[in-house]
Amino acid sequence: MKIEIAPSILSADFGKLNEEIVSIEPFSDRLHIDVMDGHFVPNISYGAPVYKWIESKLPLDVHLMIEHPWKFLEQFVKAGGRTLIVHSEACEDLRGVLGSIKELGALPGVSIKPGTPVSAISDVLEWVDQVLVMTVEPGFGGQEFMTDMVDKVRELRSMGFEGNIGVDGGISDKTAGICKEAGANVLIAGSYIFGAENREEAIGKLR
Ligand code: DX5
Ligand code: ZN
Repeated sequence: MKIEIAPSILSADFGKLNEEIVSIEPFSDRLHIDVMDGHFVPNISYGAPVYKWIESKLPLDVHLMIEHPWKFLEQFVKAGGRTLIVHSEACEDLRGVLGSIKELGALPGVSIKPGTPVSAISDVLEWVDQVLVMTVEPGFGGQEFMTDMVDKVRELRSMGFEGNIGVDGGISDKTAGICKEAGANVLIAGSYIFGAENREEAIGKLR
């Protein structure tokens, strides 16, 4: 499977967001957009009114770390989201939410926190384009990679899941290898890429 690099703009300088994106765009495959509400996770980031200003041809993966994501799906798609990734822990009717995302013309994705097992999403795997395995507790950039989470990637592949598997949190040139070996194909990285002096080189080392 083709390895795709998705820089997480959470670690970018928002005072010059589009310039920051230009600096990574030629070397990247997707953009990872972290929406946080201060309830589902203990931090607030930004939402559709902010990311709609992104000028990029890269597809946007919108990672929804919010409660009641179903209330806002339409605005997330209108603002340019191609894939909407909801957290299984935030959805009572997970399959219904994934269906609504599809009806809106976007690709459905589902994410699991470190404490959530793969079995929590096994029923919906046939409905999702991407499973996002959190390799840190969601909420902040720059945290340490949780190696054990890689087992979930392996488990998903051994169950026969052939869609995209993203890994999110603590991804760098040191941790990308083990994720790829396990079967992850979308590597999300924030602080590693935006903190690098040479971003092209940093991204190259993830592939
Ligand atoms: C964390 C976010 C991540 C974050 C990753 O809750 O979902 O996307 O930006 O940041 P790094 O790569 O710095 O761990
Ligand atoms: Zn994320």
